[in-house]
Amino acid sequence: MADVKVTVPEIQARKQGGEKITVLTAYDYPWALLVDRAGIDMVLVGDSLGMVVLGYPDTVSVSMDEMVHHLKAVSRAVVRALVVVDMPFGSYNVSVEKAIENANRLMKEGRADAVKLEGGCPMAETVAALVRAGIPVQGHIGLTPQTASALGGFKVQGQSAEAARSLIADARALAAAGCFSIVLEAIPAPIARLITEAVAVPTIGIGAGGDCDGQVLVIHDMLGLFDRFTPKFVKQYARISETVAEAIEAYKRDVQAGCFPEACHSFSMKSDELDKLLP
Ligand code: KIV
Repeated sequence: MADVKVTVPEIQARKQGGEKITVLTAYDYPWALLVDRAGIDMVLVGDSLGMVVLGYPDTVSVSMDEMVHHLKAVSRAVVRALVVVDMPFGSYNVSVEKAIENANRLMKEGRADAVKLEGGCPMAETVAALVRAGIPVQGHIGLTPQTASALGGFKVQGQSAEAARSLIADARALAAAGCFSIVLEAIPAPIARLITEAVAVPTIGIGAGGDCDGQVLVIHDMLGLFDRFTPKFVKQYARISETVAEAIEAYKRDVQAGCFPEACHSFSMKSDELDKLLP
C-alpha cells in the first residue's frame, strides 16, 4: 500500500467513482498504526473514546483536552488515512467563534485533517463558518450519541415519513453548508439510500444499510473489545477480549507455577564477576 495521503477531494470523488469508503475509529498509536497499515481510508478519533476507552457512561463527558491527547497519538501513527476527529460535546454549541477556536486547536495541536460534529439544520451556520475558516467538516445525523437522551435513548431514527423528511432536510442543509461527507447513524436502510441519493457528498453509514457511500464502525465493537453492549448493526470480526483474557490467565498460571520466566527470558553475567560476589 503506497503511503500517499488520502485527501478530502479524493473522498468526495468516491461518490462518483463507486469505490466504497472505509472508516474505522482509533484512539491511540498502536491501533491507529494497524488501521492505517490495513489501508482504511479514514481514521476517526471518535468521542466513542469516552465509552470504549475511558470508561465514561456516555460521550457527553469527553473533554477537549482528552480528544486532543488521543488525537495526537493517532496523528503520530497515521501516514496514509484521512484523520477525522469528533468535536466533543460543549466544544461547538456555545458560539460559532468558540467552535472555530476549538476546531483550530484540533487541527493545529492534534494535527487532524478534518473535524466531525453532530446535528443537522441547526448546525449549518457553524459548519459554514468552519469551512470558511479552512476546516474540512464531516456531518453526523440520525442517532447522534451526544444528544441521545433528547432523542429518547440509543434508538433508530427516521422511522416515520415525517422524521425521514426531516433527516433528508438535515443532510441537504449540511451538504449546502459545505460538509465534505456525512455520517448516517442508525437510520432505516431505505431512508439512508434516499439521503445518499439526495446529496452530492458521500454518506458514511453505521447502522444505515449497504447503500451508503462508505461504512464506519467503532474498532472496539468490531474486534469484540467492548462488551458493555453490542449494537445490532455491529459485525464482530474477532473476539479479541477472549484471546486477551486467555493470554493473561496463561501468564498468571506460568508465574504462579514458576514456568515464567525461562532461561531464554533472563540475562546472564560472566561467572568470574559473579564469583567475586559470592563468599
Ligand atoms: O464517536 C464515534 O465513534 C462516532 C462513530 C460511531 C461514527 O461518531
